[in-house]
Amino acid sequence: MSTPQSLLIRQAEIILPNGESMIGDVLTEGRYITQVGREITTATPVKEIDAQGLTLLPGVIDPQVHFREPGLEHKEDLFTASCACAKGGVTSFLEMPNTRPLTTTQSALDDKLQRASQKCVVNYGFFIGATTENLPDLLSAQPTPGIKVFMGSMHGQLLVNQEEALEAIFARGKRLIAVHAEDQARINERRQEFAGITDPAVHSQIQDNQAALLATQLALKLSKKYQRRLHILHLSTADEAELLRQDKPSWVTAEVTPQHLMLNTDAYETIGTLAQMNPPLRSPHDNEVLWQALRDGIIDFIATDHAPHTLAEKAQTYPNTPSGMPGVETSLPMMLTAAMDGKCTVAQVVQWMSKAVAVAYGIANKGEITPGYDADLVLVDLKNYHPVKREELLTKSRWSPFEGWSLTGWPVTTIVGGEVVYDKGQVNTQVRGQALTFVS
Ligand code: DOR
Repeated sequence: MSTPQSLLIRQAEIILPNGESMIGDVLTEGRYITQVGREITTATPVKEIDAQGLTLLPGVIDPQVHFREPGLEHKEDLFTASCACAKGGVTSFLEMPNTRPLTTTQSALDDKLQRASQKCVVNYGFFIGATTENLPDLLSAQPTPGIKVFMGSMHGQLLVNQEEALEAIFARGKRLIAVHAEDQARINERRQEFAGITDPAVHSQIQDNQAALLATQLALKLSKKYQRRLHILHLSTADEAELLRQDKPSWVTAEVTPQHLMLNTDAYETIGTLAQMNPPLRSPHDNEVLWQALRDGIIDFIATDHAPHTLAEKAQTYPNTPSGMPGVETSLPMMLTAAMDGKCTVAQVVQWMSKAVAVAYGIANKGEITPGYDADLVLVDLKNYHPVKREELLTKSRWSPFEGWSLTGWPVTTIVGGEVVYDKGQVNTQVRGQALTFVS
């Protein structure tokens, strides 16, 4: 492991906490940002980074990823995934409990934290997964950003789809509940209806907008009954966005993925089962309504739902193909390209990918370029475009639904805790991230 030295980032376009930008310098000492100014002079020599022409953002906090370790390391592991994060400008991640074993106990959580401390080049946190039987673990597990509830799209122990079982979870404790909101009963019915169809496009019909809406309505109802902190993961439909526009209590947050904003059911024609995920891709109309909800603050932030599967697994025939797609390497350039296309501003991207996530999960000291904050930073190039290329990806799965897309805003340098973890194509594998802590 290496230790952080002082870094002086010179003449970057810095995105400030108020959303304005300034050409200036940022000094980091140890793990922290210590100065932000137009021109910083230091008494002692420091490592300088010439950032002229580049834009400096707070590191991305990706609040929903599936990194597959332990148990499914043929798809991804904490080392490969965290290297992909570093390349994508993601300096912290929150990982989901559907590993093997499931992360449903303190000892499984401790095991992940231990593995991450040895392997992760960026900062990490892990959700505890709800079953119908682990209420005591859900109340006591530490440190965790919250409880993950799969209301649908899951089988086995992690599926909690009966209202009574869900209510037992909402009724006890205070910590954040993050829901994968799809109605399993409706999915089961529609699977029968569409049985035998092997076109993956049918996936979006089986797990339709109504399945998502029903589950989101139920989660909202329970959250309101107990005033329980609720986060709706990967909101995917116009229907749910409109519901939240009418009725979103102050203690509820929601996220959207870049793929639900920028891909739709047309993608099945071009990339087939690589477009298959849960909740599924929707229509162009849903894309537009989700964008508007994000701009209006109805949706609070962005997550990738990075869910890698091997190309061999994806090459099977629907419905035997697994759902999910990788995302941590492309999310920031995807969003910054959208900003350059006029869909939003760069400051909004920072808000949605860093600040709002830190606030929602009570991650102190992250998400802003401010003296005293953690030196988790990413320098991006907003002047050049470069296509997503399979051979350049670091995720073990080695594919992206966005292959061939010409993107700007690619990270040039990523800094975690004051250390350069990624620079112009190279990951410094000696860097180690830290376990995140969460203030509720
Ligand atoms: O498409 C998905 N794949 N959605 C999820 O919520 C889970 C994920 C996975 O773990 O593969």
